[in-house]
Amino acid sequence: MRRKIVAGNWKMNLSFTDAEDLINDLLDTLDEEKPTAEVIICPPYPYLELATDYMEENLFKVGAQNISSFGAGAYTGEVSASMLKSMDVTHCIIGHSERRKYFNEDDKMLTAKVNQALAHQLTPIFCVGESLPEREAGKDKEVVRRQVRHGLFHLDTVEFARVVIAYEPVWAIGTGMTATPEQAKDMHAYIRTLIAERYDEKVAEETMILYGGSCNSENAADLFSQEGIDGGLIGGASLKVDEFISICKQASAK
Ligand code: 13P
Repeated sequence: MRRKIVAGNWKMNLSFTDAEDLINDLLDTLDEEKPTAEVIICPPYPYLELATDYMEENLFKVGAQNISSFGAGAYTGEVSASMLKSMDVTHCIIGHSERRKYFNEDDKMLTAKVNQALAHQLTPIFCVGESLPEREAGKDKEVVRRQVRHGLFHLDTVEFARVVIAYEPVWAIGTGMTATPEQAKDMHAYIRTLIAERYDEKVAEETMILYGGSCNSENAADLFSQEGIDGGLIGGASLKVDEFISICKQASAK
């Protein structure tokens, strides 16, 4: 069984002091509990250095929530993959549905972001997922297929092996409406079928696919025990130490 991954996406939350407190509490508790899952925290940009400074004994890794699709230069307000790499950031969320929706990030831009991340040795956590109307119209798989193909299938096998995928149904994000373990398992299996068709069975088997969307300490064990669910991308519950650690422990139990 592969080591699972639990990544906390803090989104646009917390003051600097609150972030510092949360990181300290996380460090203490992770040190005590020593979950075997790989733990990644993704604070807002201004707190990344705080997180990488506190990154100790491999208790957690640090991811950004976004990167620029450009390399360097006159792009006011942007943060490049090379800057993040130079601060010891290891991962980067790309294509979160909130960025697709509120910042009009399209497939072309996301492809460029994936390329930037890989070129600078950051691990992309590439998000895909359908909206509720798309699911109700029976188009959930079609949407996810398009997102995976356009965002990732230009990569060669070696590059693709460095990507983590997160299936986050948009209707489950921040709503308390978690996908059922069966719905999540079914979509993860579908994504693996697509990967096997594009690459091969071995690559499909080895790809880490996380579930995200109202994942919490109550439902994590059920979700993580499903075949093909390799951990979680956690929003709201990653801001509460007890919740987050409980999820990390549940990912470590399997
Ligand atoms: P919630 O866990 O708050 O639903 O958010 C999930 C998410 O968007 C993680 O990226």
